[in-house]
Amino acid sequence: MIITLDGPAGAGKSTAARALAARLGWCYMDTGAMYRAVTLVALERAIPLDDAPGLATLAESLAITFRDGRVLVGERDVSVEIRTPAVTAATRPVADAPPVREVMKRLQRRIAEGIDVVTEGRDQGSVVFPHAELKVFLTASPEERARRRHREESARGGGTPLEEILEAQNRRDDGDRTRSVGAMKAADDAVLVETDGLSHDEVVERLVQLVEERRRPLTA
Ligand code: DC
Repeated sequence: MIITLDGPAGAGKSTAARALAARLGWCYMDTGAMYRAVTLVALERAIPLDDAPGLATLAESLAITFRDGRVLVGERDVSVEIRTPAVTAATRPVADAPPVREVMKRLQRRIAEGIDVVTEGRDQGSVVFPHAELKVFLTASPEERARRRHREESARGGGTPLEEILEAQNRRDDGDRTRSVGAMKAADDAVLVETDGLSHDEVVERLVQLVEERRRPLTA
């Protein structure tokens, strides 16, 4: 069974997807991490970020896998390096490149073949897994998402003002929504889950409930 979890940055997707996969005992596929991994290696090999065919060839050549919650390229654990601000910024043009998205779509489908998986991203329900048994679009208001990020940053000692975080987030959302291929969008048959005012546990409970509802007809 495939469950897709799409939505904007900061809606709490990753935490929710990871917790849901753990609850169900299923695999968790973090597709943002896959775009980040391609970007990390592109930066290291100095592949220009506007060279879409070059980036796609690179993506094709990399063995990106998930093991015990870690992201691997070959045998190299890149889980930490893919989260640096430099990689985050450079991921945008990589994720915008249609040939890269094509390669990633194939890879994501291959990874999910024959297993139960919770997959998380922007286009998982709308493009990559149009036949997923359950599609969720997880969202929260821009203000709430910016507040969450601000709290996380402050806890890490960062001093970026809330307004600046909100502006950067709006720019990212616009970019995600308007890319020519694989734009962030709720699939027509996705269930919308709005997380404003919900605790982390409440979000996970809601998702588990949705999974149970989908599974019931299958097991009845
Ligand atoms: O979710 P994230 O921040 O780790 O995603 C990293 C980047 O990859 C971000 O720019 C959005 C993009 N992305 C995408 O275009 N499609 C996906 N399925 C997942 C992420």
